[in-house]
Amino acid sequence: MAIRKVAVMGHPVLRQVSETVAPGEVDTQRIQRLIDDLIETAHEYDGAGIASPQIYEPLRICLIEIRDNPRYPHFPNVPLTILVNPKITVLNDDKLPKYEGCLSVPGIRGLVHRSRGIRVDALDRHGEPLSFQARDLHAATVQHELDHLDGKLFVDNVTDTRTLTFIPEYDRYWHKKGIEMLEAAGAELRKKS
Ligand code: NI
Repeated sequence: MAIRKVAVMGHPVLRQVSETVAPGEVDTQRIQRLIDDLIETAHEYDGAGIASPQIYEPLRICLIEIRDNPRYPHFPNVPLTILVNPKITVLNDDKLPKYEGCLSVPGIRGLVHRSRGIRVDALDRHGEPLSFQARDLHAATVQHELDHLDGKLFVDNVTDTRTLTFIPEYDRYWHKKGIEMLEAAGAELRKKS
């Protein structure tokens, strides 16, 4: 396993449409190593998720894992979930307002609006079918990761560029407001212990 370098905004690999993984290839050593590297890299940089093109491998693989994440302290925890060739069906297209960040857009947050309910159909890391429903912050995180597989970054979804903020300014001026917006929408937040 290895911590990989993360591609940042401007690198063309982040703007490619990633390739589907042949189901029979998922269990190969090459793909299993890639998945291990994604996990290790996400842990190293406290990513709530990471997508394969972010480590210069434009394949349709991403992961979500939220475990008391210091970059997103208000996010409810989500167990490690590997998604191969994921597809989303929107179940609830009401929009949740949410400040997002990305390991590939370091130091910046911005306000985006994500569908509040989705179903995800994918393969797991052994090539077995995997389906689940997700809502609110979990659903938004999955949508962010899937966008990477289609060459999109969260900044593409920032409709009001005045909400773009560096992280110290986010912490000072916008974090509390962001939480209030999520609370007003009735989104589940992580309970502080
Ligand atoms: Ni990202």
